[in-house]
Amino acid sequence: MSKSIAPTHDNKLYYGDNLEVLRKYIKDETIDLCYIDPPFNSKRNYNQIYNNIGKEDKAQAQAFVDTWTWDDEAIKGYSEITNNINGEGRFTKQCIDLIIGLKKVLGENPLMAYLISMTIRVSEIHRVLKPTGSFYFHCDMTASHYLKIVIDSIFLPSGGDFRNEILWYYYNKMHDRRKKLFPRATDTILFYIKDINSNFTYYQLKEMREKPIKQLARKKVNGVMKNAKGEDGKVMYNIKEDRVLDNVWRIACLQPAAKETMGYPTQKPEALLERIINASTNKGDTILDAYCGCGTTIAVAQRLDRKWIGIDITYQSISLILKRIKEHFGIEAIKNIELNGVPKDMESAVALAHKEDDRVRKEFEKWAVLSYSDNKALINEKKGADGGVDGTAYMLTGNDEHKQVLFSVKSGHVGVEMIKAFCHNVSKGEAAMGIFITLENPTSPMIKEAKSMGKYINPLTHQEYPKIEIVTIEEILNGKLLNLPHAVEVVKKAEKKTVVLDNPLGLEFDKDE
Ligand SMILES: C[S@@+](CC[C@H](N)C(=O)[O-])C[C@H]1O[C@@H](n2cnc3c(N)ncnc32)[C@H](O)[C@@H]1O
Repeated sequence: MSKSIAPTHDNKLYYGDNLEVLRKYIKDETIDLCYIDPPFNSKRNYNQIYNNIGKEDKAQAQAFVDTWTWDDEAIKGYSEITNNINGEGRFTKQCIDLIIGLKKVLGENPLMAYLISMTIRVSEIHRVLKPTGSFYFHCDMTASHYLKIVIDSIFLPSGGDFRNEILWYYYNKMHDRRKKLFPRATDTILFYIKDINSNFTYYQLKEMREKPIKQLARKKVNGVMKNAKGEDGKVMYNIKEDRVLDNVWRIACLQPAAKETMGYPTQKPEALLERIINASTNKGDTILDAYCGCGTTIAVAQRLDRKWIGIDITYQSISLILKRIKEHFGIEAIKNIELNGVPKDMESAVALAHKEDDRVRKEFEKWAVLSYSDNKALINEKKGADGGVDGTAYMLTGNDEHKQVLFSVKSGHVGVEMIKAFCHNVSKGEAAMGIFITLENPTSPMIKEAKSMGKYINPLTHQEYPKIEIVTIEEILNGKLLNLPHAVEVVKKAEKKTVVLDNPLGLEFDKDE
């Protein structure tokens, strides 16, 4: 009897904390290039801002709580580094001494918590890089000077090298003129290689000049460089249209109207990742992004025929990446992704429902709403007055008209009172329909109450829907999907593209907004 062989996938997407994923699943010396763009120590929350549609002014969904505190996690990290536990020498002596010293100088504060989190994770990244591998850490001036000594202490003692501080100059940023400082217009990308004695990959890149220049032609005469002269005895010139790319990268920050904009607040331009990937990898190489957000690294890696591994701790990111890959590269590209950490059975769905993690919120609800709506709904993270509504999708009902489809997700005990309250919300908000997702099986009175609400008929398509639909998590796990062919696309589409338009409208756009 022939054994069935599990299909192999070139690309892997992990939903979870990157520290756990790196330690459990990523083998030593398997990665050619790692780029990371972790949340900065900016003490603000990232809001995923969607197009303004519907009655709400702006539907905002909190993607990641970027607030670092000196908490149990930081204490655990500090003791792990300084005692070198779990590690049989996981941290270098220089790294341990540095962290002890930094804590003396900085104290037990958010910045120190952030640096500890980065130290542990960069040490894992160092482990998984091939000897020929490269590492790019994207940060800004708030912590780049601390991060550089941390990364030096991890890479340099074992033969690695710091190659460049790359400055991404987003020249089109709009500035707040009231601030008493020179407007900030750069991010910092620290570029390292794992082993200076290896044959590490590096290709010199060129960029086009704004205007071609005339350059004196030179040639060697008896071993000495001299100006080249023509038959008429006059010096000769070459016309140069490009130049070698230096460490200041002039790339516009993404504007809301740009084709590649996904609506993810910290999304980076594809042009930036294109340079990193082209400089430090070959076709077929494996690229890791351990904080992959809406998947910029992944989309560029896919387009440039590299293999990739992406990790993110929020389901919104995972959902956006799947959507981005499907829209750019089609369903075949989706089939080539090994999706890990996403609930595939009741046991893992229950585990997600009961998972507690202060860094992220409502992950079970996000997963349920986005999975059932095929990534078409928006997540409602407003606390309190949301009337039990966890998400909203929009159905096209007429020429430029739409109605809401509301989602409510319950991970605990359910009863008919909940359906009654949800029916009230759906009617009050004049929504087309409501979808009640439950981990537990619904009771007969719940089913009866939902049926009593009747049907909704879309005036545009004349299609009939139950006004209130009850869906179980088990059904979603078995592949049940919301049949909403006329869902309005609310998150800005990342369209298929190969060329990055560089500020096509010449508009000024504030990177931080
Ligand atoms: C600044 S964003 C990255 C944006 C990305 N470069 C892009 O272009 O879309 C940082 C991401 O790191 C994720 N993140 C934060 N902590 C994480 C962790 N411990 N493990 C995995 N992902 C994490 C956040 O959910 C967020 O999506």
